[in-house]
Amino acid sequence: MNIVSRSARPAGAASAHLAIEPSILYFGTPVVLLSTENQDGSFNLAPISSAWALGWTVVLGLGSDGQTARNLSDRPDLVINLPGPAHWPAVERLAPLTGRSPVPSTKAPGCRFEADKFAAAGLHGEPSHRVRPPRVAECPLQLEARAELIRPGACGEFVIVEAAVRKVHADPRIVVPGTDHVDPAAWSPLIYNFRHYFGLGPELGHSYRSRTSHGSGSHVEIV
Ligand SMILES: Cc1cc2nc3c(=O)[nH]c(=O)nc-3n(C[C@H](O)[C@H](O)[C@H](O)COP(=O)(O)O)c2cc1C
Repeated sequence: MNIVSRSARPAGAASAHLAIEPSILYFGTPVVLLSTENQDGSFNLAPISSAWALGWTVVLGLGSDGQTARNLSDRPDLVINLPGPAHWPAVERLAPLTGRSPVPSTKAPGCRFEADKFAAAGLHGEPSHRVRPPRVAECPLQLEARAELIRPGACGEFVIVEAAVRKVHADPRIVVPGTDHVDPAAWSPLIYNFRHYFGLGPELGHSYRSRTSHGSGSHVEIV
């Protein structure tokens, strides 16, 4: 596709963009696996891609018909687990499953109830330190958190959750040795890009606020 720069288009010319109506707007966000506690003390696990961080608060967008939203409104503890690109098949095994029974009619066609989603995905729980739901052992980043604010979204189909992170666990292989910094060259999120899974491509550059940089294979601390 040709990219038409603004300066190249004559004044008054029509935009080269097409007006389209995609069925979804998943424009490429990291996948997280949310572990939450069910009413009977067992644990649910659900993939979502509507998650972003503001400081140590993570904002989540959840379907209001799901077990995860229901769990968080009654038991606010959760773990926000971040899988890497290699874990996409496990994520996709979770995709057609809900922890809610009976399955709400609003769920996607083919969605079925599963009581043990860890086993169904082939993933393993490990105890958390500050919250009751387990961490996903296979995930390189695990954020123990508590849902502090849950409010309905504007259209009624979703709830917006603000979760305060209480403890961060990182696989040592993605941490810059001797620091608290995640090494951006060692870590890649799993990206959900219009219902297809991707990892990150090569680094393009870094923010002026970055505290890590790569120079000839060694880590350079920027302060
Ligand atoms: C990669 C991926 C991303 C998803 N993103 C979201 C999301 O951001 N919000 C959401 O509510 N559901 C999302 N879903 C769908 C939920 O995983 C699905 O509704 C699931 O049944 C929820 O499980 P639960 O009912 O046990 O909570 C996503 C699914 C996949 C596979």
